[in-house]
Amino acid sequence: MKTILVTGASGQLGKCISSIKSNYKDFNFIFADSNTLNITKHEQVKAFFESRDIDWCINCAAYTAVDKAEEQAKQAENTNVLGAKYLAEVCTNHEIKLIHISTDFVFDGTQGRPYTEHDKTNPLSVYGVTKREGERQLSKTNPNHYIIRTSWLYSEYNNNFMKTMLRLAYDKKELNVVSDQVGTPTYAKDLAHAILHIIRLDTDDYGIYHYSNEGVASWYDFAISIFELSAVDIETHPINTVSYPTPAKRPSFSVLDKSKIKNAFGLTVPHWRTSLKRALENIRTQ
Ligand SMILES: NC(=O)c1ccc[n+]([C@@H]2O[C@H](COP(=O)([O-])OP(=O)(O)OC[C@H]3O[C@@H](n4cnc5c(N)ncnc54)[C@H](OP(=O)(O)O)[C@@H]3O)[C@@H](O)[C@H]2O)c1
Repeated sequence: MKTILVTGASGQLGKCISSIKSNYKDFNFIFADSNTLNITKHEQVKAFFESRDIDWCINCAAYTAVDKAEEQAKQAENTNVLGAKYLAEVCTNHEIKLIHISTDFVFDGTQGRPYTEHDKTNPLSVYGVTKREGERQLSKTNPNHYIIRTSWLYSEYNNNFMKTMLRLAYDKKELNVVSDQVGTPTYAKDLAHAILHIIRLDTDDYGIYHYSNEGVASWYDFAISIFELSAVDIETHPINTVSYPTPAKRPSFSVLDKSKIKNAFGLTVPHWRTSLKRALENIRTQ
């Protein structure tokens, strides 16, 4: 039976993996939150792996506060670069296969077509820079790695756009939402299934992969769909990014091309609206 370590286990993706673990009875899971395993603490990381027999590591640990990172570059760098490097080193030393999660924010959004794994990265924010550097550290250090770049994660767990919209719908009658940033919302549970599917196949097709749900949406489209599918009546207005300035710059177009991951692992990827419907059902029955 394969033993899979999930770092950053109390984060959104970590919780999604935990929530579907009963579908993967052939795996033995170890879930480690930041108190149990702080990936920036080199000695702790080494000792943790020394005392356990691990086959796969899914790195869900990350500094993800995109705007705060502009002022907390050191903290973001510690987790997203140094932490990734320590994990890559220890996984190499123990012959553990590593799946690391990265982001569409490594791109600048100026390309007029979906981004493939071969396209040039050019992050616009501190967060994006640290995530790209984390990818580079992994590639330098560990040959047996998969990097999965994803976008706009949401789920019934922790804070995310879907949950913020549902909360605001109760507090407000009107809402402005940015309509000139385009990407693809991704149900974190779909990503969790995709990751475990890849582990189950256990091939040696290492490298960078893109995974999001299918389809294209702006944040405004996403918000409208959340309200429609929840039968919430709220007046929603599209606005431009310039009317909603944030400390970190975000790509205006970050749709990911998923051909490589679909072909390599025979994955069927649901459309974002189909998955949103499921997520909203799941949040209602939670
Ligand atoms: N959320 C998105 O929209 C999005 C989009 C694209 C890519 N991604 C990527 O997807 C991955 C998962 O994201 P997510 O939404 O699940 O993020 P999340 O909910 O913020 O979870 C990240 C987890 O990492 C933990 N963590 C932070 N620093 C750590 C450290 N030094 N050692 C160990 N754990 C640490 C956090 O624990 P504490 O809370 O205890 O600090 C948190 O539980 C990340 O790599 C992220 O960059 C996310």
